[in-house]
Amino acid sequence: MSENRKELLKKYFRGRKALGEEGLWYDKKKSTMKEKLLNKLEKEVINCRRCPLGNQRINACFGSGDYSSKLMFVGEGPGYNEDHQGEVFVGRAGKLLKKIIKGVFGLDKNQVYITNIVKCHPMKDPSVPEKRGNDRPPTTQESETCIGYLYSQIDIIKPEVVVTLGSPASKTLLDSTVGITKLRGKVYEKTLGNSRVKIVPTYHPAYLLRSPSKKEETFKDTKLIKGLL
Ligand code: URA
Repeated sequence: MSENRKELLKKYFRGRKALGEEGLWYDKKKSTMKEKLLNKLEKEVINCRRCPLGNQRINACFGSGDYSSKLMFVGEGPGYNEDHQGEVFVGRAGKLLKKIIKGVFGLDKNQVYITNIVKCHPMKDPSVPEKRGNDRPPTTQESETCIGYLYSQIDIIKPEVVVTLGSPASKTLLDSTVGITKLRGKVYEKTLGNSRVKIVPTYHPAYLLRSPSKKEETFKDTKLIKGLL
């Protein structure tokens, strides 16, 4: 690039800054592009019938939050509340997750990105989606069928750190048979989709509600995550 062109660009950006424009124009262009790609992907998920869960659920739950965030949380799949509201982590476990995100990172839920391995509610008895206590973890086949959507989300959002919540999400993304107690507390580097990310497994907030004594270990994990950002 010629010196003259560089000077012109610098002048342009100084002018934008003076007008209160925060990022560079191409940052805005990039985030509009991310939004467009994610909206398109979400429509695909809403219409997806690749596995039986697509015909059983009430609402697909794509994921939500800041699509420019460095931090992504991944749970196993929507539960009863999520299925009814069409949004991830809105039940009791979600409220605890929100509290952890605020308490540890000082961020609101919508300042990080949150999603799941599968986008539709896995039910023990799919004939009664209105029944409470009907949740189950996704099967390996359901996870494998759906995982492409998560990889696409990762490729678009490009988080630096992916926090897997609980055994099913951690085992799936780390391609491991080891349980969460052994997996947690460490940082793993892996390529998911086409993106190199750091993965930190920790306990699922629903498990923390049942076993509050595990909060101490979770706090250690969150400190580890904070150190990576
Ligand atoms: N548990 C999950 O794993 N995901 C949700 O969205 C809600 C509860």
